[in-house]
Amino acid sequence: MPQPGQHAMLPSVDHDEAARMDFVFSFKEHVTHDVAPGTKPIFEQRVEPKIAKDLGRAPKNRHEVHRSIKHDPYWQMSGSLSRLYQELKQEVGESIAYRRHEELSERARDLRNNAKHATLRLDPTLPVPRYQSAVDIHLMPGSYYTDRADDDVTAGAIYDPGVYLFSMGSMGPYNEDMGLAVIKWIKKNRPGFKPKRILDMGCAVGHCTLPYTEAFPNAEIHAIDVGAPVLRYAQARAESLGRSIHFSQQNAEATDFDDGSFDLIVSHILLHETSHKALYTIMRECHRLLSPGGLVLHGDVPFFNQKADPFTAFTRDWSTHYNGEPFWGTLYDMDLHAPAEQAGFAPENVVLDNSAAGAVPWMVYGATK
Ligand SMILES: C[S@@+](CC[C@H](N)C(=O)[O-])C[C@H]1O[C@@H](n2cnc3c(N)ncnc32)[C@H](O)[C@@H]1O
Repeated sequence: MPQPGQHAMLPSVDHDEAARMDFVFSFKEHVTHDVAPGTKPIFEQRVEPKIAKDLGRAPKNRHEVHRSIKHDPYWQMSGSLSRLYQELKQEVGESIAYRRHEELSERARDLRNNAKHATLRLDPTLPVPRYQSAVDIHLMPGSYYTDRADDDVTAGAIYDPGVYLFSMGSMGPYNEDMGLAVIKWIKKNRPGFKPKRILDMGCAVGHCTLPYTEAFPNAEIHAIDVGAPVLRYAQARAESLGRSIHFSQQNAEATDFDDGSFDLIVSHILLHETSHKALYTIMRECHRLLSPGGLVLHGDVPFFNQKADPFTAFTRDWSTHYNGEPFWGTLYDMDLHAPAEQAGFAPENVVLDNSAAGAVPWMVYGATK
């Protein structure tokens, strides 16, 4: 297994924990490369003919494929192994973080109390939106916001190595690939753009926030999230890496920043973990927060708004049903121009591009004010 980038908050692992992580990594490789690809021939040989018999036609969409394929034993086996991988990954990550939670909280406290670069502002009264509290997102118990002790950082300590393991290292040593891809998109499409104030919404532990400190070294960078434990971890991680970022606990739907505070607003895999209603509200808040000529760009998982055959669309929708990501599929189906235009952005200024170059072609969505 390739090794993640080091920083002061990354939990150390002993021999047995490293062996378990290696196992989970190899298990995912096996499921991804050897088991899951077998679903397509099974679909063509067994499921498609059954749908043709039952409906008298080919499936029209991913829902019809799902309704039929879920009774097929090969798909049940493949889907169960994918789910098992997710559960194992969480279980390994949790056991590592829980064993060290006091030591990690202490380290974060030290880095916060002696900070020279990164700041943290928490709001214990901030309500957690229901789309976060109603599910354990991607099977992460308590999602990103649950505090298990005073000064807790375990959600961050689970999420950080978990992303590395889930992506099998493909997001880069610091899991920053999508941030780099959004930056690359900006540099290509807005050459010469030098934002003075940048906001990253839904920053979690700051994986994608950090690259902005290098890409725009003169900018003042803010990053918000609703989860306190991920923010404590994020601040300490950024501090240990010498990055100046102002973290605060805020809801992207209604922040306390003044109108026109930012000339660049970004997010990375935030939108698909919110809701249909929240997406509209977040776009309205982005419009309020941007200065004239400012740019908002939300990066998210690829293939949104791309036409695909019903089987391919079904394979991309697994997380909606089996990985605690209920909004994933709805976002696929949404007309993303509507939230931007209702927020006040001119139709011709809306950006929707499925080819922001990174480990995969990420989607970027947003608008210029
Ligand atoms: C997939 S994580 C984001 C990962 C992160 N951007 C990165 O670069 O790795 C989604 C994050 O969005 C946060 N979030 C969800 N809804 C939010 C909202 N309305 N306002 C602020 N943060 C939110 C969650 O707490 C979570 O930390």
